[in-house]
Amino acid sequence: MEKKIKVGISILDCDFFNLGLEIRKVERVKADLLHIDVMDGNFVPNISIGPPVIKKIRENTELFLDVHLMIKDPYRHLDEFISSGADLITVHAEECVHLDRVLNYIREAGPKACVALNPSTPLCVIENVLNLVDMILIMTVNPGFGGQKFITGMTYKIERLRKLVEEYKKVGIIEKNIEIQVDGGINLYTAPLAVKAGADVLVVGSAFFSHDNPVELVKELREISLTLERPL
Ligand code: DX5
Ligand code: ZN
Repeated sequence: MEKKIKVGISILDCDFFNLGLEIRKVERVKADLLHIDVMDGNFVPNISIGPPVIKKIRENTELFLDVHLMIKDPYRHLDEFISSGADLITVHAEECVHLDRVLNYIREAGPKACVALNPSTPLCVIENVLNLVDMILIMTVNPGFGGQKFITGMTYKIERLRKLVEEYKKVGIIEKNIEIQVDGGINLYTAPLAVKAGADVLVVGSAFFSHDNPVELVKELREISLTLERPL
């Protein structure tokens, strides 16, 4: 049976003057996730939005809020993001010395937990926390900005991660499925590469907000898996 591909829309490149209308656009395409990029000008060079804005979004939409924290030492700020209404919180492995503690903290507080890896970070850093995550985010650009070019070499990383997850499932370390999310430079040309390698969740930013027909774009992205041979 074909596995369903989920589509998340990143609002980083939306028209922030009309944020409410832009979010209604994301609702209209029935996106599976609303991807919110939080940047602190420290972990990444850019600065974006924080808990007060997320709280307002939460009060006004039923969309699944996927909060991608690109900030220094995210553990210090988790309570604010949890209480702002995030459904899923992503932390970067590069910023968590005690990654096991951070992921447990998120899960015990309620939201789903996801760990992200920069393009240069190897998979081995998350091998011992696979049992603590619902999702793994493989960055396909260096985090910081929308509109960057997909790093093609990341497809091999996704393939290897997919195999690793299956191996951990086989020996019983993981019981449930872990979704693999890709973020950065995803469009109709690059999405098939990521899906073929084993990605389940596609985050799309600039390609969505610059498209004339976003409904059609999301439909096509979801259908990619129908025309591809997936590894698993
Ligand atoms: C990059 C962000 C991404 C990005 C996606 O640091 O995490 O979510 O904004 O935008 P596009 O699809 O334009 O790469
Ligand atoms: Zn992101």
